[in-house]
Amino acid sequence: MNILVIGGAGYIGSHVVKALLQHGDSVTVYDNLSTGCRENVFPECGFIEADILDERRLRAAMLTNGRPVDAVIHLAALKAAGESMLEPERYAEHNIAGTIKILNAMTGADVPRLVFSSSAAVYGEPRYLPIDEAHPTEPTNFYGATKLEIEHLLRWYSHLRELRYAALRYFNAAGYDPDGEIRGLERNPANLLPIIMEVAIGKRSNLQVFGDDYDTADGTGVRDYVHVTDLATAHVTALERIAEHNTDLVLNLGTECGVSVREMYELARTVAERTIPVEVAPRRAGDPAKLVASSAAAREVLGWQPRYSDPETLIRTAWRAYAASGAKSASK
Ligand code: UD1
Repeated sequence: MNILVIGGAGYIGSHVVKALLQHGDSVTVYDNLSTGCRENVFPECGFIEADILDERRLRAAMLTNGRPVDAVIHLAALKAAGESMLEPERYAEHNIAGTIKILNAMTGADVPRLVFSSSAAVYGEPRYLPIDEAHPTEPTNFYGATKLEIEHLLRWYSHLRELRYAALRYFNAAGYDPDGEIRGLERNPANLLPIIMEVAIGKRSNLQVFGDDYDTADGTGVRDYVHVTDLATAHVTALERIAEHNTDLVLNLGTECGVSVREMYELARTVAERTIPVEVAPRRAGDPAKLVASSAAAREVLGWQPRYSDPETLIRTAWRAYAASGAKSASK
């Protein structure tokens, strides 16, 4: 297929592009490089450096040689849950208004299908665990609310314009390309594992553990970490599925295993052979104690099986990317 990957230079996007290329698809990356890296754009891809708020560029990107692309994968979004509570206007504009522009450019050019990066943040405080797709959706941060709004829009576009879509609700994406090919790192990360890695390479002095008095086995927060390459594979399969079955999908992508903050940094110390100092800090507002996915639906519908999502592989692959970056900056 001819696929436009919006946000394809970003952390998850670049891994999705790699999976599509391995699958034999033709890919054009559309990215404003605000958080993505040019070095993450594979040389065999077309590249459009533009913003999703730019309707003219978007409309042009929907066509390859005058014909509509076969699908769009949309991963371009602001994603820091805490920041979204302080800057709702920016999140509304980029995430919601930006996606509306993408959808309208797609329907205007008759592009028939979309895979959309949604998030476990649509669920909010868990009512039960593991969280399945039928769990109530009551986001506790504005980031999650933007993803949920977009899911609502997708339902209407599917109904009114026959736009087929897959909304993939990621749990905690982590790890790096196991082949070591994707090396552009996120700038100013806010997520746990990249922060641990930045401490390990000496870019930050310590890890702040946001609360050690949760009702969990060791008192620290528990999350369902899923390897970015496993996420990427699910995009390829979900796209095939919606194309072949002319259907829409809303699926969780997680592993059903919970890992605590403490387990993560202790394992990182072993894998990286670095001290990784930690400091206990107050809880972060809006953080639930424990989030774990049910991914039974993804298993059943897509035959999806995470291969790289065990904590050791997550950390080993991330460490490889960060250690390489440390070596690069040390040799400058
Ligand atoms: C949040 C969203 C998730 C989204 C992701 C994208 C919610 C409930 N979840 O995940 O849907 O895809 O952001 O960015 O909104 N931690 C520390 N110290 C740190 C950083 C994190 O202790 O410096 C802890 C957190 O308290 C949490 C765990 O590590 O227990 C994971 O945090 P993080 O990586 O930020 O992801 P979530 O908040 O779970």
